[in-house]
Amino acid sequence: MNKGRVMRPRGIVSIGGGLAALLVLTVVVEAQHERGYPMSKEGVPTGSRQDERVVLNLNEQASAGMKLTMREHLEAISAIVAALGRQDFEQAARVAHDELGFPKHHQAMRREAGASFPQKYHELAMAHHQAAEDLAKVIPSKDLKSILPQLERTIGACVSCHRVYKL
Ligand code: HEC
Repeated sequence: MNKGRVMRPRGIVSIGGGLAALLVLTVVVEAQHERGYPMSKEGVPTGSRQDERVVLNLNEQASAGMKLTMREHLEAISAIVAALGRQDFEQAARVAHDELGFPKHHQAMRREAGASFPQKYHELAMAHHQAAEDLAKVIPSKDLKSILPQLERTIGACVSCHRVYKL
């Protein structure tokens, strides 16, 4: 095999691939924070960033329900990027609305029944559903210059909450 040869992805595929890579990176970084910081041999945290996230203190059932919803959120982002890559705008809009918009919020609430959340958590959750609804609305324009920034805002809403809260 010729190792020196580099494939040059083009157009939407390259944009979609870049976004997917960015998202995976974001989640991996968040996941590392979830499990704590890398430890040196002496057990001293080596990361320079302090973990100042607020603990949500959910019961086991609500916590399992929330994590299931979260994994579905990530699958939804992946499905949206894939559909945009195929230029299947109808499918992308449907996933954005059904899987990340307000219908998803109602399902998430049922799964987290009985749990109470800080007001700011609610606000971040609503901002994320609203961003997804706005994304669903802009996708039928088929204009990637409008769609991609809104996709970024939607993913940014995931990141904003992950920066502040943990289980
Ligand atoms: C309102 C807050 C909030 C929003 C919005 C949010 N998340 Fe989360 N998510 C969390 C919290 C809290 C955790 C647990 C993190 C921890 O304990 O370290 C989590 C965990 C996860 C996990 C790990 C699930 C598991 O099984 O451990 C994934 C994946 C995830 N989120 C993806 C997403 C994606 C993708 C989005 C946006 C489409 C999103 N989240 C939006 C709060 C949020």
